[in-house]
Order: sequence, then structure tokens, then C-alpha cells
Amino acid sequence: MNIADVRACFPGLRQQTFLDAACVSLMPVQAEEAMRRLGQDLLRCPARDASAHHIALDRSAPPARQEIARLIGARPDDIALIESTTQGLQAVAAAVPLRRGDKVLVGATEFLGLAVPWIGRQAQEGFQIATVPCPDGRLRIDDFARAADATTRLILLSSVQWSTGYRADLAAFAEFARARDIVLVVDAIQHVGAMPLEVEQTPVDFVVAGGHKWLNAPVGRGFLYVHPRMVERLTPPAWGYLNIAEPPEGWAEYFGTPTIPAVRDYDFVGTARRFEVGGTANYPGNVGLAASVKLINALGRTTIETHILQLTDLLFDRLRAAGATVVSVPEPAARSGIVSFTLGDGVERDRQCLQQLLDRRILVSQRYTAGIGGLRVSIHFFNSAEDVERLTTAVREVKAKS
Ligand SMILES: Cc1ncc(COP(=O)(O)O)c(C=O)c1O
Repeated sequence: MNIADVRACFPGLRQQTFLDAACVSLMPVQAEEAMRRLGQDLLRCPARDASAHHIALDRSAPPARQEIARLIGARPDDIALIESTTQGLQAVAAAVPLRRGDKVLVGATEFLGLAVPWIGRQAQEGFQIATVPCPDGRLRIDDFARAADATTRLILLSSVQWSTGYRADLAAFAEFARARDIVLVVDAIQHVGAMPLEVEQTPVDFVVAGGHKWLNAPVGRGFLYVHPRMVERLTPPAWGYLNIAEPPEGWAEYFGTPTIPAVRDYDFVGTARRFEVGGTANYPGNVGLAASVKLINALGRTTIETHILQLTDLLFDRLRAAGATVVSVPEPAARSGIVSFTLGDGVERDRQCLQQLLDRRILVSQRYTAGIGGLRVSIHFFNSAEDVERLTTAVREVKAKS
């Protein structure tokens, strides 16, 4: 599979100009086929009995963990499958102990959902969340270093900002945090699938991402990477019968043994699966996620990054030529698949522009935090130069009327 052929895998590109993977991306046919196959199994129960059927459904998890592990250079044992970014963050918040007087740092331009799992706890538990300024929308390690002190325990960071696409220098954050034994939690939902992220090279403690944006996966399934040192150090966020090690006698034997007590001692799994705290899981999500990420792995991270950066170069040029102002920073190292712009005539005018683009079935969105943002364009590997031309021609026409 190469970039030129991959558009055919996305029927959602046929009737519209889709430039909004940062909201909810399009799924490839491979994911839909995988879910359809699973749907057939759910319709029919092809196994000898329903217990074996359930055990077979559980086997949908390892391929998803493997594809994610391949994508970010981790081991499958470091990957927990979760429902959403928010659920992953909640698990981290529940597992990482904070004491009275501790400090948590978060950038001023972050998506609100990043800090919410901690905001609700700070008054009760006595820690404090400090907001770090992000001048011109840049999340710089120097600003975090200035805000940090001996009480800083946790940094919450989206490696790509949702409203501008600013890509933080993750290696610098990882080095800073590791040197001070600060736990670094990375929300990578706007990052993975578009830009490379290698946990081997960049040893962060947690990476969390829902699958429905740049991974092109079905909604309701994502992943949490947990560094092995965190698996060893932390008590899991919650216990459930699926994050204990399989009963010593195996599930099949367990079901058929009358003397099994309801309560006894268990060993809990020693991998990131400790963070999978739910019961019978989102199996359609598992197979859809595995198929979507398999496609990304087949294309290759470098090919995808190069394609996105070429198209965003073109987008920068064409937006400027159309009279728009690009809000996102130009340096390639700080860029991602997201480019934000404004017509420069105020938020209301940008809102009207958005409606006029949507009227032409050109799908982008409008996003801000802390005064930064604008009309947000997402360029993914399935987008083409023609998509950029259609968008910017329309922007030029709208701008000419203002
Ligand atoms: C940076 C970031 N984190 C988290 C989310 C929400 O993710 P989820 O719905 O998977 O919890 C979003 C959604 O826009 C986002 O942009």
C-alpha cells in the first residue's frame, strides 16, 4: 500500500473534502470489514458453546495491542486498551498518588479534558494545578522549568495542541521530567497516526490516545501506554476480574468447578493490562483499531510524516496567498497535521467562513483555548494537494467578499 493508492480505502473522501481528522476521522474500509466479520460472529456464535465464544472474543485484544506497540516502538505488554483518552487519563489520575502540597503543571492552551480528571480532586487531596503560560501558543520546556519547583510531581502535556497543532519538543519534556522524577503524562490523541512518537527514544511515563482521530479507528477504543517502571511502581487504578491473572486453573475449568469460592487471593497481571479495568470489552473496537493501525504501520510513519509536512507547506503558502493569517507556527519540528488560520476579521467572521466552507462540503472546524486558535484544518495521509487547493480556493472567495 502506498500513499497514492490509500485514498481508495476511504470512501468518506468521495463526496466531500474531508479535512477534520482532529475531530472524528474517517475509518478505512479495512476497519469496517474487520468489524463486519466480528459482527457475523456475534450474530451466530460460531464456537461450540458461548463460553468458548467469549474466550475467542477476548482474543481480539492482542492484535490491537501489537499494532499499537509497533506504531510507537513499545512492547505489547506496555499497552492497555481503553475506551477513550478521558478514561485513560482517569486511570492515570487514580493510580499516581499525589500528596497535600504537590504541584501539577499543565499548559494554558490545552484541551480542557486533559486536566479535568485532576481538577475534581485537587481541593479534597490538597494538591494544586498550576497553569503554565504558552506564549504565541508555544509549549516550551523553559516555561515549564520556570513554573516547576521541588513540589512538582506531574506534568500533563498534549504533545500536539488541539487548537493550533503546536507539536511540543517531547524529548526535552521527557528529559526534564526524568531528571527530576516528575511523572510525565502525554495526551497524544492529536499526534499518533500523523507524526512519529517513539517511546524507546523518548521515555515518557504514560501516552494516552483515543483511536477516533488520527488513528482512523472506530469511536470508543484507544490505548494507554504505560512505561514498565510505572507498572512496577504503581498500584492499579482499580481491580476487576479481567485485570487479575487468569485463574490458575484456566477459565474453562473455573466455570465447571462447583467448589470455587467467590473470594480468594489473586495474582494481578504484571503488565500494562493492569490499567484495563473494565469487564467484557469493546471487541468491535479492538478489531477496528487493529485494522486501522495496521494500515498506518503498512504505510510507515516516515512516509506519513513527509506527506503531511509537504501538504501543510502547500497549505501555509496557499492560505497566505488567499489573504488569510496562519495561526500555527511555521517551524517543521513544531508542526503536525493541524494547521489553524483566521481571515483576520474577528471570530464571528471566521464562524461565517466556516459555514460557507461547510456549505461547499469542505469539512474543517473552529477551535480555541485561552485566546489561541481559529479555523482548524487537519491534513492526514489520505488527503491530497487537490483537497488543499479546494479549501484555499474557497477561502480566497470568502475572503474576497469580506
Ligand atoms: C487533545 C485532546 N485530548 C482529548 C480529547 C478527547 O478525547 P476522548 O473523547 O477520547 O476522551 C480531545 C478531543 O478533542 C483532544 O483534542
